[in-house]
Amino acid sequence: MDATALSEWALAEALVRETWYDHFAFKAGPRPSGPLPLDKCFELCPELVQINNIAEIQHIGVIKMAPGDFYKMHTDTVRGVGINMMVFDEHSSSLCAFVNRETFETEKLDYQPNTMYLFNTQIPHTIFNFEGYRYMLAVSFLLPKELLPYRHIKKLIRKINLA
Ligand SMILES: [Fe+2]
Repeated sequence: MDATALSEWALAEALVRETWYDHFAFKAGPRPSGPLPLDKCFELCPELVQINNIAEIQHIGVIKMAPGDFYKMHTDTVRGVGINMMVFDEHSSSLCAFVNRETFETEKLDYQPNTMYLFNTQIPHTIFNFEGYRYMLAVSFLLPKELLPYRHIKKLIRKINLA
């Protein structure tokens, strides 16, 4: 699905936003903006309405990382799944990588512009931001990991032909 309209609007919002909040207890790491209005996000990206119909979206926001920031290897504490989209601004260089618990194989998430990724937050992952500000649109669901695991929502999204 093409989320160009949402991506462009979210970047414009992020660039004028002055208030950013600390995110979890890491010294260096992402700072989320306040939530974006859901109705506007739905209008710009109608596929999110379909997703919201199968699993209720709690909020959508932008997460900002400064150059040199990192987010240590972790699994998410509350959510089991999330949808992310890189919102590209000036040249920035960052890495999001997942590590398989059993094999220790690593996999880089190669974000493409205007593309949303459903990802399993229970696989250990880490983020480094080497250069430029990194803006990430993050869609969070209402239900926690116990009630909305990755495999469950993946199956539902496949059913409506969005994945
Ligand atoms: Fe995470």
